[in-house]
Amino acid sequence: TVALNTAAKAAGKLYFGSATDTPELPDSAYLAILSDTAMFGQLTPGNSMKWDSIEPEQNVFNFTGGDQIVALAETTGKLMRGHNLVWHSQLPDWVMYGTWTPQTLTSVIRTHVWTEVSHYRGKIFYFIASESSVVTLSQDAWDVVNEPLNDNGTMRADVFYDILNSSYINLALQTAHAADPYAKLYINDYNLEYASPKIDAMVQLVEDLLVAGAPIHGIGFEGHFILGEVSGTQLQTNMERITALGLEVAITELDVRIQLPATDADLKQQKADYMTVVQACMAVPGCVGVTLWDYTDRHSWIPSTFPGQGEACPWNANLLRKPAYDGIAMGFNAP
Ligand code: G3I
Repeated sequence: TVALNTAAKAAGKLYFGSATDTPELPDSAYLAILSDTAMFGQLTPGNSMKWDSIEPEQNVFNFTGGDQIVALAETTGKLMRGHNLVWHSQLPDWVMYGTWTPQTLTSVIRTHVWTEVSHYRGKIFYFIASESSVVTLSQDAWDVVNEPLNDNGTMRADVFYDILNSSYINLALQTAHAADPYAKLYINDYNLEYASPKIDAMVQLVEDLLVAGAPIHGIGFEGHFILGEVSGTQLQTNMERITALGLEVAITELDVRIQLPATDADLKQQKADYMTVVQACMAVPGCVGVTLWDYTDRHSWIPSTFPGQGEACPWNANLLRKPAYDGIAMGFNAP
């Protein structure tokens, strides 16, 4: 069977990638597969570029973990996705419980976004732009705002929204754009994959941002699926609603979780689900790539968050390929 990043690129996508993070890298068998650039052409740090890691105290910045993932990407020839700048979760207490005015919180967001994006400028997601003949462009892709919407389509009432209303989104985008004018700037969210008030609200949010002149270039569809609940046509439709506005999309955090114990029939269904997601991305020219939220059940976030569920990744806990692997390859039209 063909390696998955090779298959993705042969199919016209920019990359096939995986989340990872520093606690996993001492696992040498894990690292060997992750490092194979034919298999994975892109990395997203699962935690170490989040606010609580990067700026645990006000104006105290720690890039150690993020730098390690960037170094791994550089030595293994992979693209990087920055994840993430402004999010309600993994937010240090000093931000979450601070006593802010619109002015002081604006300054806090500006400093955080500016400092982090500047630090990684030119290191994240560089590739030769296919639309230009000779120029090698350096482009960074950032999840600037993560998960701003509730499932019912209203704005999530976190500290940013409470103090600044939805204006914090454009503020974060403008600041990231100023720090790295070549960066592709994304909003990333989950449950955008279905017919729901949430995708309607995301389309509306993008339209409002474009009218306001905001630098917004892409929407990340996280893709945390439940076994058997993937609708390829709906996913394609929702991605097309975004690309119709001139933005790109990406599957940013793909996994398909199973109620344990997983049966052979479950693994077969999971193969079909992975294939369906990749086919939906294939059907949308503006879908640039697919990222797993880690490639192996050994390091998946699912069991600790959803007790009784697991086996969500295409490699099992012994680092052996599951049927889902072939589903992904088939999705990319590879043998
Ligand atoms: O760093 C502490 C460590 O010091 C402590 O000993 C340990 C004990 O529980 O916890 C460690 O923090 C954990 C952190 O991951 C790093 O391992 C947190 O408890 C844990 O909640 C956190 O989970 C992360 C989760 O985001 C938080 O919401 C997952 O690893 C990470 O995969 C997950 O990723 C998110 C995306 O960023 C956004 N989309 C959803 C996705 C899944 O939740």
